[in-house]
Amino acid sequence: MNLLITRTLPQKVLDAARARFDTTVHEGGKLSPDEARAALSDYDLIIPTLGDAFGAAAFEGPAPRTRVLANFGVGYNHIDAPAARAAGVEVTNTPGVLTDATADIAMTLLLMAARRASEGERVVRAGAWKGWTPTQMLGLHVTGKTVGIVGMGRIGKAVAKRCHYGFDMPVVFHNRSAVADPGMPARQLGSLSELMAAADIVVVCVPGGAETRHLIDAAVLSHMQPHAVFVNIARGDVVDEAALIAALQERRIAAAGLDVYENEPEVPEALRALENTALLPHLGTAALEIREAMGMLALDNATAVAEGRSPPNPV
Ligand code: GLV
Repeated sequence: MNLLITRTLPQKVLDAARARFDTTVHEGGKLSPDEARAALSDYDLIIPTLGDAFGAAAFEGPAPRTRVLANFGVGYNHIDAPAARAAGVEVTNTPGVLTDATADIAMTLLLMAARRASEGERVVRAGAWKGWTPTQMLGLHVTGKTVGIVGMGRIGKAVAKRCHYGFDMPVVFHNRSAVADPGMPARQLGSLSELMAAADIVVVCVPGGAETRHLIDAAVLSHMQPHAVFVNIARGDVVDEAALIAALQERRIAAAGLDVYENEPEVPEALRALENTALLPHLGTAALEIREAMGMLALDNATAVAEGRSPPNPV
């Protein structure tokens, strides 16, 4: 069987893929809608990833040859999963192996934004630091503050655990369904506005996709407190970026830490110009052992489908 991998993956994963399948690695970046459609008629198995255009249009036309889109990554908002299934293509993802790494990046951004670390580093790098003073660059003290988690899935719980056990933070959360066991003392709040108002630090951990697009809009942001910090490690379009920029510019909230953006890799100039932002280039899972684990899991899913077994991680 032949396999298309749409981006260069760690060597260990490519070696394993080549040992199992006639493997092609696409070198040209994100698959366009036309490339995605062509791939569906040329390959038995595909390991796609973030940004590849497997929207509804990719599945129009003749029945695909492809039997599985074994996504590299947990988020699959770039794949229209119902359209894929209707066309006979299974969709799988790579949950679990990346939970801790992504939660760690949430903590990185939370601390950077609250304690003005990006701004401070810029001052040092510019050679503009005048020396320590008792009132220099005062940020938000993190330990003991209330964290509000939007989306209490695996990653949300891992962030909450770090905040609660590592930083003595009371945890409140919002989730579309009831969460019986959040894994630590935590209070589920009925509405998003209630959560935004209660939290000193908000961390967005919901899956991306049509259902959560602009979930965090100007109205929702307006409930945040002026000293509060906003962190997004989910998907950029969960947040109305323009509304967030306005809130930051007008200091209606104190700071933001972002790993994801509405139109990656484009980061609006207005966001880059703000001192009260910590901005990372989608580093959530960016550690070699994590990317290897994600790749091996994606390959296991593809292999299962190729061998007529149920894949371990159907979406
Ligand atoms: C990365 O953002 C992922 O969805 O795994």
